[in-house]
Amino acid sequence: MKFSINQNELTAANQECLVVGVHNQPTFEGKLKELDHKFEGYLTQLVKDGDISSKAKKVTKIHTFGKLKTKRVLFVGLGKQKDLTFDTLKESLGVASKALKQMKISSFSVALDTFVSEEMVATDAAHAFMEAFTMSTYEFHGYKKKSNQPEVHVESIEFFTSADSKEVETALHIGSAFGNGVNSARTLVNTPGNLLTSTKLAEYALELAERYNFEVEILDKEEMEHLGMGALLAVNQGSVEPPKMIVLKYNGKDEWKDVIGLVGKGITFDTGGYSIKPKDGIVGMKADMGGAAAVLGAMEIIGEIKPEQNVVAVIPSTDNMVSGSAFKPDDVITSMSGKTIEVLNTDAEGRLALADGMTYAKHQGANYLVDVATLTGGVIIALGEDKTGALTNNEAFFEQVLEASGESGEYIWQLPYTENDKKRVRGSDIADLNNSPGRAGHAIMGGAFVGEFAEGLPWVHLDIAGTATTKGSYELGPKGGTGVMARTLALLVERFVPLEK
Ligand code: BES
Ligand code: ZN
Ligand code: ZN
Repeated sequence: MKFSINQNELTAANQECLVVGVHNQPTFEGKLKELDHKFEGYLTQLVKDGDISSKAKKVTKIHTFGKLKTKRVLFVGLGKQKDLTFDTLKESLGVASKALKQMKISSFSVALDTFVSEEMVATDAAHAFMEAFTMSTYEFHGYKKKSNQPEVHVESIEFFTSADSKEVETALHIGSAFGNGVNSARTLVNTPGNLLTSTKLAEYALELAERYNFEVEILDKEEMEHLGMGALLAVNQGSVEPPKMIVLKYNGKDEWKDVIGLVGKGITFDTGGYSIKPKDGIVGMKADMGGAAAVLGAMEIIGEIKPEQNVVAVIPSTDNMVSGSAFKPDDVITSMSGKTIEVLNTDAEGRLALADGMTYAKHQGANYLVDVATLTGGVIIALGEDKTGALTNNEAFFEQVLEASGESGEYIWQLPYTENDKKRVRGSDIADLNNSPGRAGHAIMGGAFVGEFAEGLPWVHLDIAGTATTKGSYELGPKGGTGVMARTLALLVERFVPLEK
């Protein structure tokens, strides 16, 4: 996709469509006066009559009948200026982008300055536009025999603005990077388990590493055995697919310090193992690597925007299968940390994989840890399908994650984490921990178990079981994988301020 910046008047726009923002205001003042002039004041009238909506997330397309060089104008309602946030701007732009896609055009122009408000400068609007456009026009092509219809893709977008063109170009690039990172995560989540094995996920990570010059390490089964990763290996025991521990390092500082560890659950398919899932609960478990997808999506964004930070991404990956060699309830296993675990439920496998992931991230120098996982059905019961559940052992670190999630429009809600919760995961007669202390508060139990492996480091747990996929389309994308947390993690990294010791 090509971008260009045009500093002329809007009336010079001569592409197939011109995209214009309208705030809740009765007349076309300022930047839009010129356009209204060309229509002899009719635009003002249309807004007054409600035929052009200025309500947020409403779009109106009009034909220009030769009154302008551009063939059509797409008005994008933005609502009241004072209510407009970065997040709602992106939602309105998502709706607009879907309308543009339906027009099947290859180029259009954007009146960027019409999206600017007191809170939002032109570079914010540029970032929002490209992030929303990239995300909302995403499609997962699937595996159906291709139709003969040639697809029309947008090849170029021209942005009209009086702002500094270099700065706007940079913001456009950043916005696209955020959108593309999300879309890559979505594709990983949407890909079925037979096609996205741990080996394939590792190959994908290798490609990313080559593209962005990340340091990369893929541990195989033998190396895991050598390192004593008994928790991840136990989950893999029933599988014919080899497990992988995937590690990517991004070094954006002179020294390898203040390292943020991003640990993503990479279960490529979760049958539940011997604590097998019912037939309705098993469908969709190809998405059980949503945490891994979020981390890889974030790494793609980080590779593009190159923040001055250090990051280590760690993805423990396997499927969770049933066979004569599979691990069983009652088994006791030893994690890489040395902590022993009594397995009460083989379906609580994510926390086992993450246990070794957390320890390995620490080994690689992580000073802060964030784990992201489709960990529990319990989080869906607690918070619904539109909020990610969070746990933390460090409020100041959590604040930074919360800030990033708010700006990304990826809502998170903190769950309580008490001494009693720690006691429950430590409640085993024969081992240090048990992996399933019962159904009560089990979203908290899942997080509390993972927290045992933070071993004092500031840590935030994000349970995306409800948010990694969606059953219906929304402003910024279709149903299926959402790529949730890719943006939050990338933004957290970009803005990260080390905590005072
Ligand atoms: N992968 C599932 C969690 C899940 C459920 C993700 C629904 C997405 C949608 C996880 O491994 C699991 O099975 N968790 C169990 C834990 C229980 C056995 C303690 C659960 O939530 O029921
Ligand atoms: Zn499970
Ligand atoms: Zn799982």
